[in-house]
Amino acid sequence: MRVTSRVLVCDPIDHVGISTLEKAGMTVDYRPNIDGKELISMVKDYEVIVVRSRTIMSHEVIDAAINAKIIARVGVGLDNIDIKAAEIKGIRVINASEAAINAVAELVIGNMIALARGITRADTEMKKGNWIKKDLIGTELRGKYLGLIGVGNIGRNVGRIARGLHMNILGYDVIPINQDYIKEVGLIRTDLNTLAESADFISCHVPLTSDTRRMLNAELLARMKPTAYVINTSRGEVIDENALYQSLKNNKIAGAALDVFEIEPPTNRLLIALPNVICTPHIGSQTKESQELASTVIAEKVIQIMYEKSI
Ligand SMILES: NC(=O)c1ccc[n+]([C@@H]2O[C@H](COP(=O)([O-])OP(=O)(O)OC[C@H]3O[C@@H](n4cnc5c(N)ncnc54)[C@H](O)[C@@H]3O)[C@@H](O)[C@H]2O)c1
Repeated sequence: MRVTSRVLVCDPIDHVGISTLEKAGMTVDYRPNIDGKELISMVKDYEVIVVRSRTIMSHEVIDAAINAKIIARVGVGLDNIDIKAAEIKGIRVINASEAAINAVAELVIGNMIALARGITRADTEMKKGNWIKKDLIGTELRGKYLGLIGVGNIGRNVGRIARGLHMNILGYDVIPINQDYIKEVGLIRTDLNTLAESADFISCHVPLTSDTRRMLNAELLARMKPTAYVINTSRGEVIDENALYQSLKNNKIAGAALDVFEIEPPTNRLLIALPNVICTPHIGSQTKESQELASTVIAEKVIQIMYEKSI
């Protein structure tokens, strides 16, 4: 399948996708650090624009993209792309939703264990020369309740692995949850309040929309058990960070693991400095396997769509 389109890659992506596009006959300009102004001045020359989460495909950029046929997101979340503006201009927006499923799920499981056993605190104290063994009585995951907010691709996979660790799975979603999956993990479907009140671990897996923005607010956090933990690998704005800070600081909940933040890198230093918070710099899909897969999947989708448009 040969197609001769010009592709602008605006964020760092695995090289395998670039070579796949080039082998298909496409001209690829790799500009992983391009800034907004430069993007607006250059974007008119390309049929395909490839981004990750750094580049903001605003209304203004999309208006300038007069030859664009595809905006391709090497990853999952589309909240950095003005989808309505793209739709109006007839530009296809595609993503690689399948690529992050395992990487993010494994990070969530790692964080649950790290929170339950105080691993990051133990490490920090040992490096300072302290042996705090008697302070580190953790809990086990076996038998605990994991509440999934959003039972989509990633949420389902987290549930599967957690079931393998003998956890009980609670799920809240706005769409029906597949019956086979419910049977597979023994999922108990709940409303959001019941999930907050019953879960020992809450893990967020919803997209950022007007409905999910700050869905974990002060009221919901107040319903959680003082021994419960929150894990957020979805989008920072899904949680009200100030309300979370208050809950954690006042020991109303036991801890949190955050991979995503309202502003990235985060400016809310008070939250990330808390000893019962584990922070990672949005690394959910930062694995070799996930990056390769996302890059390959996007390249293949782009080639297929551009080929279909050319015949
Ligand atoms: N940390 C990272 O690096 C990283 C990597 C990949 C994805 N993500 C994020 O993970 C999240 C989930 O990704 P996914 O691939 O599982 O998405 P998905 O679309 O497969 O699943 C999302 C689920 O959320 C549900 N949902 C939507 N609105 C809801 C609401 N108001 N209340 C309850 N449920 C609602 C949907 O019905 C769907 O089942 C997204 O926010 C994505 O941006 C983060």
